Amino acid sequence: MAKLLYIESSPRKERSASIAVAQHFINAYRTAHPGDTVEVLDLWKTGLPHFDQFTIDAKYAVMSGQRFTPEQAAAWNAVTKVIEHFKSADKFVFSVPMWNFSIPYILKHYIDILAQPGLTFSYSPTEVTRGWSRESRRRWFTRGRSVWPGHRGGSVRQTKRLSAPYPGFHGHHGRETDFCRADPGRARCER
Ligand SMILES: Cc1cc2nc3c(=O)[nH]c(=O)nc-3n(C[C@H](O)[C@H](O)[C@H](O)COP(=O)(O)O)c2cc1C
Repeated sequence: MAKLLYIESSPRKERSASIAVAQHFINAYRTAHPGDTVEVLDLWKTGLPHFDQFTIDAKYAVMSGQRFTPEQAAAWNAVTKVIEHFKSADKFVFSVPMWNFSIPYILKHYIDILAQPGLTFSYSPTEVTRGWSRESRRRWFTRGRSVWPGHRGGSVRQTKRLSAPYPGFHGHHGRETDFCRADPGRARCER
């Protein structure tokens, strides 16, 4: 029995194309995997901790083997909770609109919180950085189509270019991740 975490980054809800495509996928997934659990993480309702001075200082304290100040310890505790929740899942689906040729800032905020030494990647000045994930884990990305006149919107290649570093950094490699562009009535995917 696996847990799939579906991470939603459009605030447009019933008007959102990326959510509509992801929902379609999730419904099919539930039918195909009746024993699995699916949890929805709406990033706009999650109340992510600030990625502020204390959080960044705590991150560098971990990387340089320093002790935390009380403020850094509190910041690290908040970050750890978010990461533990993320790591409790076996599979991930991200629905991702294109915003100004990139991803919505709330998803980048989430990624900045997730990328922590000792929690989602190893860090040593002398060794290659390694991600935390197991080989069996997979992710899918979906992206909303463009409504801008004269602009074709995010291609699958663009989606991969923007998004690929994140799963790669966390230990998910190309063959474990599908990148999909959402179009009306269909989604085109590449691995
Ligand atoms: C703030 C904002 C920025 C956008 N930037 C782009 C863009 O750079 N390129 C593009 O093709 N579409 C852009 N769009 C259009 C969205 O990608 C399109 O509306 C998409 O359907 C949004 O995803 P959603 O329907 O899942 O919310 C932008 C929309 C918003 C709200």
